[in-house]
Amino acid sequence: MHGSIIILLKRYVQTQYDHSTWVTLMELSGISKVEFDHKTVYPDEYIYALVGHASAMTGVSAGELHERFGEYLVPDLMYMYQRLLRPEWKTLDMIEHTELTMHKQVRKEHTENSPPVLDVTRIGPNELVIEYVSDRRMGGLAVGIVRGLANYYDEADQIHIIPTTSEDGEHVNIRVRRIPPRGE
Ligand code: HEM
Repeated sequence: MHGSIIILLKRYVQTQYDHSTWVTLMELSGISKVEFDHKTVYPDEYIYALVGHASAMTGVSAGELHERFGEYLVPDLMYMYQRLLRPEWKTLDMIEHTELTMHKQVRKEHTENSPPVLDVTRIGPNELVIEYVSDRRMGGLAVGIVRGLANYYDEADQIHIIPTTSEDGEHVNIRVRRIPPRGE
């Protein structure tokens, strides 16, 4: 997994919990000596171990933690890749273009990067369906990212996220519908 994502996970734990929680999670995961940087790709096992222990410590399920972390990630992801964003995009457009802009760029940056395939079908101006495909099985993160995008674009009240499969499979379907405000 991309170093930037793990560094953001560290910041998430430090801000939502505290620094000593992060140190404990690193120790429990057997990686307390590892220093993370933005340029390195780290084994996915690190994330699984960190989230697994976080779940055991907090009693919050791993799927729910993935969702919360995904939501938290968005402002930083948008900042990191801001040069690829178009000013006219809102939540649904952003999702529709991720595969051929953001994730495409991530794949180019490092041969070991492998963001999920997002096969997006735009059903209409206010609706789309995402088919998430990844053997990492992090569909919860995808749901959280969609929620984070809706916050980012100030559309949280309008965007409805309906996963139509289980969120922890290699293929996850997520329906996203925008209900426009009255008068639009
Ligand atoms: C600004 C937009 C986005 C940027 C810059 C971005 C960037 C990234 C990066 C850098 C990774 C790590 C890849 C790796 O380590 O191999 C990643 C993974 C991921 N992305 Fe995105 N992403 C964006 C939007 C989205 C959206 C809209 C979704 C879902 C709807 C999504 C779902 C995921 C998931 C679930 C992963 C975790 C890896 C996996 O499941 O295989 N991303 N993304």
